Amino acid sequence: MKAPSHPLKVAIIGAGAAGLYATTELLRRDACARVDLFDRLPTPGGLVRSGVSPDHAARREVSAVLERMAVASGRFRYFGNVAYGRELTLDDLRRHYHATIFACGAVEDRRLGIPGEDLPGSHAATHFVGWYNAHPDQAERRFDFDCERAAVIGNGNVALDVARMMLLPIDLLRQTDIADHALDALSTSRVREVVILGRRGPAQASFTAPELLELTHLPGVAVEIDGVIPDDVPASLPASQRLRLQILHELRWRRSAPAPRRLILRFQRSAEALLGEDRVVAVRLVENRLVDDGRGGIKAEPGSTVETLEVGLVFRSIGYRASALPRLPFDDSRGVIPNQAGRVQGEDGLVQGLYVTGWIKRGPNGVIGSNRFCARETVDALMADAGSLKARPPMDLHNDLPGSLQRRGIGITDHRGWQQIDRIERERGLASGRPRRRIAARRELLAIAASGPA
Ligand SMILES: Cc1cc2nc3c(=O)[nH]c(=O)nc-3n(C[C@H](O)[C@H](O)[C@H](O)COP(=O)(O)OP(=O)(O)OC[C@H]3O[C@@H](n4cnc5c(N)ncnc54)[C@H](O)[C@@H]3O)c2cc1C
Ligand SMILES: NC(=O)c1ccc[n+]([C@@H]2O[C@H](COP(=O)([O-])OP(=O)(O)OC[C@H]3O[C@@H](n4cnc5c(N)ncnc54)[C@H](OP(=O)(O)O)[C@@H]3O)[C@@H](O)[C@H]2O)c1
Repeated sequence: MKAPSHPLKVAIIGAGAAGLYATTELLRRDACARVDLFDRLPTPGGLVRSGVSPDHAARREVSAVLERMAVASGRFRYFGNVAYGRELTLDDLRRHYHATIFACGAVEDRRLGIPGEDLPGSHAATHFVGWYNAHPDQAERRFDFDCERAAVIGNGNVALDVARMMLLPIDLLRQTDIADHALDALSTSRVREVVILGRRGPAQASFTAPELLELTHLPGVAVEIDGVIPDDVPASLPASQRLRLQILHELRWRRSAPAPRRLILRFQRSAEALLGEDRVVAVRLVENRLVDDGRGGIKAEPGSTVETLEVGLVFRSIGYRASALPRLPFDDSRGVIPNQAGRVQGEDGLVQGLYVTGWIKRGPNGVIGSNRFCARETVDALMADAGSLKARPPMDLHNDLPGSLQRRGIGITDHRGWQQIDRIERERGLASGRPRRRIAARRELLAIAASGPA
């Protein structure tokens, strides 16, 4: 008689939106499957915790909902403070699990490659975002807001987040779960004007209409548009693009009431260099023309008009980038693990038992919900392969990998530990009239997680 096959045992690496969606999808699709979810940070959530801006906290709820669904299955375990490439190797995973899904996101910043980029006062938006959200790796950074004007280079939603965080009245920020160190630093900020620089035109901007609209309601902030917006928005454009242009058009011609702070959206401008001796004092801008890129799109080409804009602070917000993971294929030009609908693609074909989802699979684009569809596609592939995966059970299927990591002295945060952190952050928040006071120090996070049941 044939021995019954062991239920599918899957490791997921990365507890951001993509990893969490893949977890719940897998548990839903296979009523016997077991999932161990690992993250290099003590806390789950990925960018939902450390990217989504503090004034948009309601959007973070999705992470808690997905966790609750996973825990309710009784077939899920979370292990924080365990990094693939540090504590976990590919051999470990292959020996203990039928399959592994990599959902490690894209955490690096992209560089402009212009002179002056490394001057003090010039920062990556990725660092600023992590800093104001108490990401343990960014908490020690310093940002100097002792200047009147800041520039943000890039025209995506992250650029709008960065600008908003510098312009929101401090009393509003105080009602959020922004990191304590960021609240302190921003409370003495002298920044009164933020200029967002888009290299292409209003029609090509990446930010979305709801996020743009939100800028028009910031208390004490006048919004100005510097760019050519057509009077008649072509009906042939996609609805989202039309709406964005309509809002920009209205803002362009609206007479703003005087306000203590200004936000200026300037289009068709590229930074050629950041200027200054000891720190950034200005950015040299070139005005771009928009030309056909020969592939059905529009590209920016530098013209001859150059100007200097005095600024004391510059953020480059030109997208995120994933980095290669040990022993996994990586497409450096696209910044993704090559894959076919979620199955990892090696040089010699598909790699048995390895899958990807989220930003490391498709690149750094899309909102939280986009990862649901992305995870579903990956889980579809894994479920289609389930028969062949179970037919070749891993060598150490019946040994517990997290248990052996713990025996090696690795301070793992399990789901109870994370709940303990969550509870303490909320309690500290309640005591000071805030929704949560985030803990940024990894050591403190680990100590709290280890301190007893929630
Ligand atoms: C600043 C910012 C703000 C955003 N705001 C919004 C918003 O308001 N609304 C919205 O819908 N979308 C928003 N998004 C988009 C959304 O956050 C992403 O679509 C989503 O987080 C991508 O999910 P992911 O799981 O692929 O990556 P991530 O969320 O980055 O998760 C990856 C996880 O993998 C872990 N990890 C990385 N390397 C390893 C390793 N070697 N070993 C173990 N674990 C590892 C990381 O710690 C992280 O937890 C925002 C994005 C950014 C950058
Ligand atoms: N509230 C929200 O829902 C929210 C908040 C934050 C992020 N997100 C999502 O997260 C994803 C990532 O956002 P993102 O803003 O980092 O990326 P993004 O949407 O890809 O925007 C990147 C921007 O950088 C510009 N850029 C790239 N290279 C440049 C260069 N060398 N010089 C000047 N500009 C350059 C791009 O311009 P070109 O188009 O000309 O290349 C684009 O405007 C997006 O899908 C976004 O919607 C959502």
